[in-house]
Amino acid sequence: CLALVTIALFFRAIFLHSFSGYGVIKSNNLRLILSPSVHLESHEGIRGDKFLEVPQIVWGLNHLDPTLNNQKISFARACLTARVLNRTLLMPSLSGSLFYKEIDLLHPISFDQVFQYERFNSLCNRFVRLGRYSDLGNQTGKYDLRKGSGRKWTVERDLEQLKQSSRGPIDKYQVISIAGKNPFLWHDHWPVKDYARVFECLVLVDEIAKEADKVVSKIRRIGRKLRSKTNFGAEGSSLSYAPYVAIHMRVEIDWMIHCKKLEQRSRISQICSSKQEIMERVGNIVGLESTAIVYLAVADSLLNDSSILDGWKIGLVPFEKKKLGVDGIYKKHPYLIQSAIDYEVCSRADTFVGNSFSTFSSLIVLERTQRVIRMGITSSCSIDVRWPSYAYNIPGESNAPQKWMTNMSDSNLKAISYGSNAISC
Ligand SMILES: *[C@@H]1O[C@H](CO)[C@@H](O)[C@H](O)[C@H]1NC(C)=O
Ligand SMILES: *[C@@H]1O[C@H](CO)[C@@H](O)[C@H](O)[C@H]1NC(C)=O
Ligand SMILES: *[C@@H]1O[C@H](CO)[C@@H](O)[C@H](O)[C@H]1NC(C)=O
Ligand SMILES: *[C@@H]1O[C@H](CO)[C@@H](O)[C@H](O)[C@H]1NC(C)=O
Repeated sequence: CLALVTIALFFRAIFLHSFSGYGVIKSNNLRLILSPSVHLESHEGIRGDKFLEVPQIVWGLNHLDPTLNNQKISFARACLTARVLNRTLLMPSLSGSLFYKEIDLLHPISFDQVFQYERFNSLCNRFVRLGRYSDLGNQTGKYDLRKGSGRKWTVERDLEQLKQSSRGPIDKYQVISIAGKNPFLWHDHWPVKDYARVFECLVLVDEIAKEADKVVSKIRRIGRKLRSKTNFGAEGSSLSYAPYVAIHMRVEIDWMIHCKKLEQRSRISQICSSKQEIMERVGNIVGLESTAIVYLAVADSLLNDSSILDGWKIGLVPFEKKKLGVDGIYKKHPYLIQSAIDYEVCSRADTFVGNSFSTFSSLIVLERTQRVIRMGITSSCSIDVRWPSYAYNIPGESNAPQKWMTNMSDSNLKAISYGSNAISC
């Protein structure tokens, strides 16, 4: 009997272990399926005794899309650079505040205050590797690598420089330190799949994830109330699942000025959308529930602008963080964390609508696309797939927003994440 019990326990342990990564979808805990299973091998893939140091990760190209996502892209680019060099990336710091030009005010936040460090290394095992400065021991030397700049510094030259640094005398240094420009401005040498592989390993620390949980449960609680009211108290409806739509609505004045300029420069007319256009197109989405709660992820400057709450199609009930009563949750944190919370809320929404020219929207769609692919679905362009995403700046059928899915086989991130209206649907 004892032998049998032991065997049973053994198999149970193996079974539980091998499924632990994918888990079961609980209504409020998508994080379980957001990340692939944990690999337990050691770090054989990347050398642990050679390091790469990069400048502080700052907001990125322009302060008008100042979200955590620019920093995620920069971070992933730093990781992939370290991978080319077969080196461990020394944990960089992120920037908490918005004053992106005044370096002193960037309010450095350590990576591990936002994302789980150990989890990152186990999920990204053999692909990229993060290290701490304390792993350095006695410094045996640092090589300062300066990236070129200007028109003549082509993508090819940049890659050649990296390759040269991965061998010969430079490789003997324990630390290569890249000086100068923020990684967001480095040349992009990597396919979308590689970025996605790094993004998958970024899991928020519990403290922040819990804040996002609070916001999502508040939205669903209000959604359930609304539904039970409109269903005239149909039996059990107050307990039923309340789907929500999240819209990343970029209509603040400085964005509108920026995007108009962008439209002129790139001769693309589908970048800016007005409030009215967004409301109208979202109202035309086929298959939205008759009563749906709409979470508006908007810039703080719009929180006092009640016009974003008016004019929605009957049945769509808009909320932003102030009307939801969750602005207190946000206010406690620096801008970076606020943006991380909003990212989670949008990413977990049943339906997401964003602007294809925004990195924030694009990375959300990338994550949602990965999630759908992980469920075995290769094209989510058809209507009835879970977690649909739309681009409101591109009109689709019957003036609804166009369905949006990330093209995972694209050869660089720019093609899918900013400066593009290629949404592959
Ligand atoms: C890094 O170097 C180690 C040891 O030399 C090697 O085994 C591994 O394959 C290399 N990894 C990559 C990604 O080049
Ligand atoms: C590191 O440096 C200290 C002081 O310079 C020295 O005492 C120690 O032996 C060194 N350790 C290693 C591992 O080289
Ligand atoms: C919104 O209005 C309130 C009170 O009228 C004010 O305290 C707050 O600073 C305003 N917020 C913004 C972002 O304008
Ligand atoms: C995805 O990207 C690849 C590589 O750039 C391209 O060949 C393919 O046509 C794209 N697919 C779609 C659906 O846009």
